Amino acid sequence: MALVPYDESSAVPALAKLRESSAEFHFANHSVRLTQDWNRLGVAAVVWDAAVVLCMFMELGHVELKGKTAIELGAGTGLVGIVATLLGANVTITDRVPALEFLAANVHDNIPPSLQGAVKVSDLTWGEGLENYEAGAYDLVFGADIVYLEETFPALLRTLEHLSSERTVVLLSCRLRYERDERFLGLLKRKFTVKEVHYDGQRDIHIYKATRTADKRDL
Ligand SMILES: C[S@@+](CC[C@H](N)C(=O)[O-])C[C@H]1O[C@@H](n2cnc3c(N)ncnc32)[C@H](O)[C@@H]1O
Repeated sequence: MALVPYDESSAVPALAKLRESSAEFHFANHSVRLTQDWNRLGVAAVVWDAAVVLCMFMELGHVELKGKTAIELGAGTGLVGIVATLLGANVTITDRVPALEFLAANVHDNIPPSLQGAVKVSDLTWGEGLENYEAGAYDLVFGADIVYLEETFPALLRTLEHLSSERTVVLLSCRLRYERDERFLGLLKRKFTVKEVHYDGQRDIHIYKATRTADKRDL
Protein backbone atom coordinates (compact mmCIF):
# COMPACT_ATOMS: atom_id res chain seq x y z
CA MET A 1 0.00 0.00 0.00
CA ALA A 2 1.33 3.44 -0.94
CA LEU A 3 2.15 5.41 2.15
CA VAL A 4 2.29 8.97 0.83
CA PRO A 5 -0.68 11.03 -0.35
CA TYR A 6 1.21 12.21 -3.44
CA ASP A 7 4.38 11.84 -5.39
CA GLU A 8 7.14 13.26 -3.16
CA SER A 9 9.17 14.52 -6.13
CA SER A 10 6.39 16.92 -7.17
CA ALA A 11 5.91 18.40 -3.72
CA VAL A 12 9.33 19.21 -2.35
CA PRO A 13 8.64 22.75 -0.97
CA ALA A 14 5.47 21.58 0.74
CA LEU A 15 7.35 18.74 2.35
CA ALA A 16 9.98 20.93 4.02
CA LYS A 17 7.81 21.81 7.04
CA LEU A 18 6.78 18.17 7.35
CA ARG A 19 10.37 17.25 8.03
CA GLU A 20 10.69 19.52 11.06
CA SER A 21 10.83 17.75 14.41
CA SER A 22 7.83 19.62 15.81
CA ALA A 23 4.94 21.87 14.83
CA GLU A 24 3.37 24.49 17.10
CA PHE A 25 -0.10 26.02 17.04
CA HIS A 26 -2.31 28.15 19.21
CA PHE A 27 -5.91 26.97 19.45
CA ALA A 28 -8.61 27.22 22.11
CA ASN A 29 -6.37 29.41 24.30
CA HIS A 30 -3.75 26.67 24.46
CA SER A 31 -0.37 26.17 22.86
CA VAL A 32 -0.32 22.86 21.07
CA ARG A 33 3.15 21.50 20.34
CA LEU A 34 3.24 18.31 18.33
CA THR A 35 6.25 16.12 17.80
CA GLN A 36 6.77 15.16 14.15
CA ASP A 37 8.92 12.30 12.81
CA TRP A 38 8.58 11.78 9.09
CA ASN A 39 11.45 9.29 8.98
CA ARG A 40 9.85 7.05 11.59
CA LEU A 41 6.21 6.98 10.52
CA GLY A 42 5.82 9.04 7.34
CA VAL A 43 2.39 10.60 6.78
CA ALA A 44 1.07 9.64 10.21
CA ALA A 45 3.75 11.59 12.07
CA VAL A 46 3.40 15.04 10.55
CA VAL A 47 0.69 17.69 10.68
CA TRP A 48 -1.13 18.22 7.37
CA ASP A 49 -2.76 21.51 6.32
CA ALA A 50 -6.16 19.85 6.27
CA ALA A 51 -5.92 19.33 10.04
CA VAL A 52 -4.94 22.96 10.64
CA VAL A 53 -7.83 24.26 8.51
CA LEU A 54 -10.34 22.01 10.28
CA CYS A 55 -9.09 23.28 13.65
CA MET A 56 -9.49 26.90 12.48
CA PHE A 57 -13.01 26.06 11.33
CA MET A 58 -13.84 24.56 14.74
CA GLU A 59 -12.29 27.44 16.64
CA LEU A 60 -14.39 29.92 14.66
CA GLY A 61 -17.43 28.25 16.19
CA HIS A 62 -18.76 26.54 13.08
CA VAL A 63 -19.09 23.24 14.94
CA GLU A 64 -20.95 22.73 18.21
CA LEU A 65 -18.45 20.78 20.33
CA LYS A 66 -19.34 21.27 23.98
CA GLY A 67 -20.49 17.98 25.49
CA LYS A 68 -20.52 16.24 22.09
CA THR A 69 -19.20 12.74 21.50
CA ALA A 70 -16.67 12.73 18.66
CA ILE A 71 -14.28 10.38 16.91
CA GLU A 72 -11.33 11.26 14.69
CA LEU A 73 -10.20 8.85 11.95
CA GLY A 74 -6.64 8.71 10.64
CA ALA A 75 -5.60 11.22 13.28
CA GLY A 76 -1.83 11.13 12.67
CA THR A 77 -0.39 13.50 15.28
CA GLY A 78 -3.89 14.08 16.69
CA LEU A 79 -4.21 17.85 16.17
CA VAL A 80 -7.92 17.80 15.29
CA GLY A 81 -8.88 15.51 18.17
CA ILE A 82 -6.75 17.50 20.61
CA VAL A 83 -8.36 20.81 19.61
CA ALA A 84 -11.87 19.29 19.67
CA THR A 85 -11.15 18.11 23.22
CA LEU A 86 -9.86 21.54 24.25
CA LEU A 87 -13.07 23.02 22.84
CA GLY A 88 -15.23 20.79 25.02
CA ALA A 89 -15.94 17.52 23.17
CA ASN A 90 -15.35 13.96 24.41
CA VAL A 91 -13.12 12.54 21.74
CA THR A 92 -11.86 9.14 20.64
CA ILE A 93 -8.75 9.74 18.55
CA THR A 94 -7.90 6.86 16.24
CA ASP A 95 -5.35 5.63 13.75
CA ARG A 96 -3.69 2.38 12.73
CA VAL A 97 -1.67 0.43 15.32
CA PRO A 98 1.81 1.49 14.08
CA ALA A 99 0.87 5.16 14.61
CA LEU A 100 -0.71 4.79 18.04
CA GLU A 101 2.25 5.12 20.41
CA PHE A 102 3.37 8.33 18.72
CA LEU A 103 -0.21 9.65 18.61
CA ALA A 104 -0.84 8.82 22.28
CA ALA A 105 2.31 10.69 23.35
CA ASN A 106 1.28 13.82 21.43
CA VAL A 107 -2.23 13.66 22.86
CA HIS A 108 -0.98 13.13 26.40
CA ASP A 109 1.49 16.04 26.14
CA ASN A 110 -1.12 18.49 24.87
CA ILE A 111 -4.21 17.77 26.94
CA PRO A 112 -4.26 19.34 30.42
CA PRO A 113 -4.77 16.92 33.33
CA SER A 114 -8.33 18.17 33.89
CA LEU A 115 -9.31 17.05 30.37
CA GLN A 116 -7.41 13.74 30.15
CA GLY A 117 -10.67 11.93 30.99
CA ALA A 118 -12.36 13.46 27.95
CA VAL A 119 -9.99 11.90 25.43
CA LYS A 120 -9.06 8.37 24.45
CA VAL A 121 -6.59 7.08 21.85
CA SER A 122 -7.60 3.91 20.12
CA ASP A 123 -6.78 1.59 17.19
CA LEU A 124 -9.08 1.90 14.22
CA THR A 125 -7.96 0.58 10.86
CA TRP A 126 -10.79 1.48 8.50
CA GLY A 127 -13.22 -1.34 7.94
CA GLU A 128 -11.66 -3.58 10.61
CA GLY A 129 -12.93 -4.39 14.09
CA LEU A 130 -15.84 -2.00 13.71
CA GLU A 131 -17.76 -3.99 16.31
CA ASN A 132 -15.44 -2.38 18.89
CA TYR A 133 -17.09 0.97 18.13
CA GLU A 134 -20.75 1.38 18.91
CA ALA A 135 -22.72 1.81 15.71
CA GLY A 136 -24.09 5.32 15.17
CA ALA A 137 -22.94 6.47 18.59
CA TYR A 138 -21.10 9.64 17.60
CA ASP A 139 -22.33 13.21 17.25
CA LEU A 140 -19.28 14.10 15.19
CA VAL A 141 -16.84 12.18 13.01
CA PHE A 142 -13.69 14.02 11.92
CA GLY A 143 -11.23 13.20 9.19
CA ALA A 144 -8.38 15.44 8.01
CA ASP A 145 -6.53 14.42 4.86
CA ILE A 146 -7.71 10.85 5.01
CA VAL A 147 -9.01 10.64 1.42
CA TYR A 148 -5.93 9.71 -0.60
CA LEU A 149 -5.56 5.94 -0.88
CA GLU A 150 -8.02 4.55 -3.41
CA GLU A 151 -7.68 1.01 -2.07
CA THR A 152 -8.95 2.20 1.32
CA PHE A 153 -12.07 3.98 -0.03
CA PRO A 154 -14.53 1.06 0.43
CA ALA A 155 -13.29 0.41 3.99
CA LEU A 156 -13.34 4.11 4.84
CA LEU A 157 -16.92 4.39 3.59
CA ARG A 158 -17.99 1.34 5.60
CA THR A 159 -16.38 2.94 8.66
CA LEU A 160 -18.17 6.26 8.17
CA GLU A 161 -21.47 4.43 7.71
CA HIS A 162 -20.92 2.32 10.81
CA LEU A 163 -20.07 5.27 13.05
CA SER A 164 -22.88 7.51 11.82
CA SER A 165 -26.53 7.75 12.64
CA GLU A 166 -28.86 10.32 11.15
CA ARG A 167 -27.86 12.80 13.87
CA THR A 168 -24.12 12.46 13.17
CA VAL A 169 -22.18 15.19 11.41
CA VAL A 170 -19.15 13.93 9.47
CA LEU A 171 -16.56 16.62 8.71
CA LEU A 172 -13.92 15.74 6.14
CA SER A 173 -11.16 18.24 5.52
CA CYS A 174 -9.52 17.45 2.20
CA ARG A 175 -6.94 18.51 -0.29
CA LEU A 176 -8.19 17.08 -3.56
CA ARG A 177 -4.97 16.07 -5.27
CA TYR A 178 -6.16 13.56 -7.80
CA GLU A 179 -9.30 12.56 -9.67
CA ARG A 180 -9.61 9.55 -7.42
CA ASP A 181 -10.17 11.89 -4.44
CA GLU A 182 -13.17 13.39 -6.27
CA ARG A 183 -14.38 9.84 -6.95
CA PHE A 184 -14.45 9.21 -3.22
CA LEU A 185 -16.83 12.15 -2.80
CA GLY A 186 -19.06 10.59 -5.45
CA LEU A 187 -19.13 7.32 -3.51
CA LEU A 188 -19.84 9.20 -0.28
CA LYS A 189 -22.83 10.94 -1.89
CA ARG A 190 -24.49 7.57 -2.49
CA LYS A 191 -24.97 7.17 1.27
CA PHE A 192 -24.69 10.67 2.68
CA THR A 193 -25.88 14.16 1.89
CA VAL A 194 -22.63 16.02 1.24
CA LYS A 195 -22.13 19.77 1.28
CA GLU A 196 -18.97 21.83 1.01
CA VAL A 197 -19.03 24.11 4.05
CA HIS A 198 -15.64 25.81 3.77
CA TYR A 199 -12.79 26.35 1.33
CA ASP A 200 -9.39 27.70 2.33
CA GLY A 201 -7.97 29.05 -0.92
CA GLN A 202 -4.55 29.80 0.52
CA ARG A 203 -4.01 26.19 1.53
CA ASP A 204 -6.35 24.66 -1.08
CA ILE A 205 -8.32 22.73 1.52
CA HIS A 206 -12.03 21.91 1.27
CA ILE A 207 -14.20 20.98 4.24
CA TYR A 208 -17.18 18.75 3.50
CA LYS A 209 -20.05 18.10 5.85
CA ALA A 210 -21.76 14.75 5.35
CA THR A 211 -24.94 13.60 7.03
CA ARG A 212 -26.60 10.27 6.61
CA THR A 213 -30.19 10.66 5.56
CA ALA A 214 -32.97 8.14 6.09
CA ASP A 215 -33.74 7.79 2.40
CA LYS A 216 -30.06 7.19 1.54
CA ARG A 217 -29.54 4.53 4.24
CA ASP A 218 -30.82 1.63 2.15
CA LEU A 219 -29.85 2.72 -1.35
C1 LIG B 1 -2.18 12.27 5.38
S1 LIG B 1 -2.23 11.59 6.97
C2 LIG B 1 -3.29 12.74 7.85
C3 LIG B 1 -2.99 12.78 9.33
C4 LIG B 1 -3.79 13.82 10.11
N1 LIG B 1 -5.19 13.56 10.03
C5 LIG B 1 -3.49 15.21 9.64
O1 LIG B 1 -4.27 15.76 8.85
O2 LIG B 1 -2.47 15.78 10.07
C6 LIG B 1 -3.33 10.19 6.77
C7 LIG B 1 -3.59 9.40 8.03
O3 LIG B 1 -4.49 8.32 7.72
C8 LIG B 1 -4.04 7.15 8.37
N2 LIG B 1 -4.48 5.98 7.62
C9 LIG B 1 -4.10 5.59 6.37
N3 LIG B 1 -4.71 4.45 6.02
C10 LIG B 1 -5.49 4.09 7.08
C11 LIG B 1 -6.36 2.98 7.32
N4 LIG B 1 -6.55 2.02 6.41
N5 LIG B 1 -7.00 2.93 8.51
C12 LIG B 1 -6.82 3.92 9.44
N6 LIG B 1 -6.01 4.99 9.26
C13 LIG B 1 -5.35 5.06 8.09
C14 LIG B 1 -2.52 7.28 8.37
O4 LIG B 1 -1.92 6.46 9.38
C15 LIG B 1 -2.35 8.76 8.64
O5 LIG B 1 -2.31 9.08 9.99
